[in-house]
Formats: sequence, structure tokens, C-alpha cells
Amino acid sequence: MRGKFITFEGIDGSGKSTQLRMLAGALRLQKFDVLTTCEPGGTPLGRRLREAFLETEENVSPLAELLLFAADRAQHVDFLIKPALKQGKIVVSDRYADATFAYQGAGRGFSEETVNQVINLATDGLKTDLTLFFDLPIEKALARTNSRNRKGEQKNRMDSETSDFYSRVRAGYLKIAKNEPQRFRVIDANDSVEKVHKKVLKIVSDFLGHK
Ligand code: TYD
Repeated sequence: MRGKFITFEGIDGSGKSTQLRMLAGALRLQKFDVLTTCEPGGTPLGRRLREAFLETEENVSPLAELLLFAADRAQHVDFLIKPALKQGKIVVSDRYADATFAYQGAGRGFSEETVNQVINLATDGLKTDLTLFFDLPIEKALARTNSRNRKGEQKNRMDSETSDFYSRVRAGYLKIAKNEPQRFRVIDANDSVEKVHKKVLKIVSDFLGHK
């Protein structure tokens, strides 16, 4: 039996990584076989790519960035995601292809046709079964990432973008929500961690129950 592929998306600072850990814990308590992973950097090659093009001060051309996220994803799909789904696992990834549509498409300005072509090539057409988008006002998300940066947590090139850039990224995500309301759900993340967790668990439990 094929497993289920669930992803979390959101602009930086939306709290999705905390929520991902909480969801995985709750599903494991219910005896689901869960694999958690992330993009970029879900594989050893991906971690090296991530370091090379994201955790650097070097200027990276937008096209190189688009193709490197795609390279990370191709490796991730082939060696981690597809095998796990074949084994019937629930794969939960912190970001996947929708991030490319939002960040490189809406954010950087590549056309939808171009990003969709690159995404299809990298994923071999593998789509998520369910994606949760953690939505938060841009100012609030930026305040969270700024306080993280002050605490000296690892920073990457994308953390230094303007609020205009993040507004475009958010609009990109909301466009996916409009086009694919079944697969792509918006969660209001402007709430306590516990309350957001409850919303997540309800959506995922309903989804797993009905499949
Ligand atoms: P990361 O430190 O993993 O941040 P987060 O916890 O916010 O996911 O950094 C990943 C960054 O890369 C994040 O700013 C989003 C960006 N990104 C893209 O621009 N395109 C993509 O396809 C992916 C997967 C991520």
C-alpha cells in the first residue's frame, strides 16, 4: 500500500517546524509509521547543496537558485520520499515543491510555466496528498525571524529578504490554495502553539481517516 505524503509550508517564521515535530509525535503515539524530513537538505547531498547555495554570503543567480532547489528535490524524491511511500509510511516534509512555486515563482519572478516545468522535472510528477500552509501576517513572521537572528540562530540568504518579497511569496501560496483547495489548506498560524497544533491534528486526522 502506498503511504501518504504530507507537507508543511509557510513563510519563514510561521512556526511550521515546531508544528511538524508536534504532529509527528502525535501520529507516532497513534502508531503511525512516520518519516519526517525537510527541503532543502533532506539527504546528504541535499545538505551539501544547502550549505553551498543557501548558507553563503555569495551572490547566487536566481536561475542557479531555482535549479539547485530542484536538484535537492530530485535527490530527495528518488532516495527518500518515494522509497518511504512505497513502504507505506506517512512522509511529513518541512517544505516541498509549493515552496518553489511561491519563492522562486511569485517571489523571484519566474513565470508559472517555468517553475511548473522545473518542478515536474524534479519530482517526476509526485504531488503531495495534503499540504498545510501556515499563514501569518508578514510583520509578525518577520519579527519572529528577526528575534531568531538576534539569538544567533543560523541565518540563510532567504532570511534577509524584504517584506515586499515575503508579501509576494505569501500571495503565491494563497494562489495555490485557491486553485487546489482540497490538497492545499490554509491554517491561521496567528494563534498559540497549542491551538494551532489542535487545528493541524484535526485536519490530518480527518484526512487519514477518510483515505
Ligand atoms: P530553512 O532554514 O529550511 O527555513 P524554514 O525553516 O523557514 O523552512 O530555509 C529554507 C529557505 O529556502 C526558506 O527561506 C524557503 C526557501 N526555499 C525556497 O526559496 N524554495 C524552495 O523550493 C524551498 C524548498 C525553500
